[in-house]
Amino acid sequence: MEKYRVLFICLGNICRSPAAQGIFESIVAAEGAADRFEADSAGLYSGHQGQLPDRRMRSAAAARGYVLTHRARPVSSLDFLDFDLVVAMDDENYEALMHLAPSVEDTRKIKRMASYLTTHRISYIPDPYYMGQDGFELVLDLLEEACTNLYRSIA
Ligand code: 4NP
Repeated sequence: MEKYRVLFICLGNICRSPAAQGIFESIVAAEGAADRFEADSAGLYSGHQGQLPDRRMRSAAAARGYVLTHRARPVSSLDFLDFDLVVAMDDENYEALMHLAPSVEDTRKIKRMASYLTTHRISYIPDPYYMGQDGFELVLDLLEEACTNLYRSIA
C-alpha cells in the first residue's frame, strides 16, 4: 500500500515546519503507523538550505522529547507530485504555495496548519525566529495540537 505523505511548509524550514514534521512523526510512531504515513518539511526561502533546525527550536523540542534532525531544503513545484497534503504555517506560506502548485487540482492539497487547531484561537502559526523562548514554547503548543488533529483527520 502507498504511504500517505504530508509535507509541512514554513519560510525558513528551520523553526516551524521541521518541528511540525518531528511532532507528526512522533505521533505516527506512537500509533504504530509508520508503514502508512510519512512526513517531510521544506521552506519557501532557500537561505538556510542544508542546515539543522534553529538551535533554540531543537532545544525547546528536545525538552518535550522530539529530536529534530531534518536538514532544510527549499520547496519545489515537483513536491506536489510526491505529497498528498501540503500544510502551510501562515497565510504568506499559503499564498506562495497556491502560486507554486502546478495545477488547480494540486492547490486542493494545500491546507493551513491553524485550520487543525481547536482550542487555540489563532489563525496562523507565528514565526518564532525573532521571538524569545516563550515564542518557541507557544509554537510547540500549537503544533502539538494541530498535528494531533491533523493525524486524526487522515488516519
Ligand atoms: P521558520 O522561521 O519559517 O519557522 O523556519 C524562520 C527562520 C528563518 C528566517 C525566517 C523564518 N529567515 O528569514 O532567516
